Amino acid sequence: MRTPRRVLVVGGGAREHALAWRLGLDEGVERVLAAPGNAGMADVAAAHPEVAAGDADAIVRLCREAHVELVVVGPEAPLVAGLADRLEAEEIPVFGPSAAAARLEGSKGFCREVATAAGVPMAEGAAFDDTAGALDCARSLGAPVVVKADGLAAGKGVTVCATPAEAERAIRAAVEERVFGEAGARVVVERVLAGREASVMAMCDGAAALALPAARDHKRVGDGDTGPNTGGMGACSPVPDLDDAAATVIVERFHRPVLAELARRGIAFRGALYAGLMLTAEGAYLLEFNVRFGDPEAQAVLPRLDAPLAALLLAAAEGRLADAADHVRLADGLVPARRQAAVALVLAAAGYPGTPLAGDEIRGIEDARAAGALVFHAGTRVGPGGRFVTAGGRVLSVVATGPDLAAARAAAYHAADRIDFAGRQLRRDIGLAPTTALAESRA
Ligand code: AMP
Ligand code: GLY
Repeated sequence: MRTPRRVLVVGGGAREHALAWRLGLDEGVERVLAAPGNAGMADVAAAHPEVAAGDADAIVRLCREAHVELVVVGPEAPLVAGLADRLEAEEIPVFGPSAAAARLEGSKGFCREVATAAGVPMAEGAAFDDTAGALDCARSLGAPVVVKADGLAAGKGVTVCATPAEAERAIRAAVEERVFGEAGARVVVERVLAGREASVMAMCDGAAALALPAARDHKRVGDGDTGPNTGGMGACSPVPDLDDAAATVIVERFHRPVLAELARRGIAFRGALYAGLMLTAEGAYLLEFNVRFGDPEAQAVLPRLDAPLAALLLAAAEGRLADAADHVRLADGLVPARRQAAVALVLAAAGYPGTPLAGDEIRGIEDARAAGALVFHAGTRVGPGGRFVTAGGRVLSVVATGPDLAAARAAAYHAADRIDFAGRQLRRDIGLAPTTALAESRA
């Protein structure tokens, strides 16, 4: 297996900090760069704040100057906009799908169409670009239903509607009032599924897929799954109801058929394919595909991996994952992971997920690291006196591992509680079983 010597991570959040950290641990990786990266990753990567994640020209230039041998793309927006296509045209290996493949995340209607053709279980529903059709569908499904903006809406485009009136409001707001802009010109209407959410990511090379251990994100801002949705307030891996062996079964039933269906349409998916699942009494159903590593799922999963990550991502980028798998004991279809648990806690700023307060001094990062945790930066910048201050909604991810979830949880909270800033938000129940009361009351 070939290891890329110089790797560029695109993006600037805690997921990208975790990727940069983990890639730098691999023997043979000499240099990790990040574009734009963030202020807190200097210990693991050379950040290039002047190179935006969406600036393909600047990324290509940086790759040429620094002789980058692999680009790993963190966020979805540059992928949907065609960054991977551009890098491929320049013959720069990239782990991240083409724009055509990234439509799986960029259009929920396209995702439904492909997943349905592939025989992947999903909630009953359909996509519409007219109000009348969507209203008919909502009526025939009966409340509760879910209304989803088709396009990228920064995680805000999904409304769970308890009554027909709520469904009508959500449909009109998206299609007629365009509250999500063009992303809501088309909507998906589907039945509400009751159960527990979990996610399974796989590395894909267009044909082959290798499962990563399952993870669980906690999306609501408040304890007990209350308050508005966020980008994710914390994650754990593994998931008590989806062990590492079960993750490979999910990949067999969800990821591989979708890769095959895309291939049938002439689309090679090379990158991380993330299946957001609802685990119901009748089995697992697909909620969505993302075309990248989850954030904060990556922060919980990457520390568990016991495999040469950079070499595997390069093999996936070059369509030779099956050969690479033979080298690293991957016969069972799972990327080798330590038999341990990891918990990632997100420390968010006051006001998040609305407009976050910024500029508050952050204390205790080194204490948290001294306590044995990993601290990944997201919304931080260097303030007066060289100290870190808050500069975004999700400020830091604090990650700890342990022999089981309880131990990982205890270690993560012990470390996170050493970090403080004004108005810090931290959920206390990350890694505990999610409450299903909400889904059940609506089902
Ligand atoms: P999505 O972006 O499609 O994953 O939806 C965001 C969130 O909305 C999910 O993480 C679920 O919490 C919820 N959700 C989406 N679809 C459904 C569904 N069919 N039933 C219940 N909850 C859903
Ligand atoms: N944590 C969910 C996501 O990355 O979309």
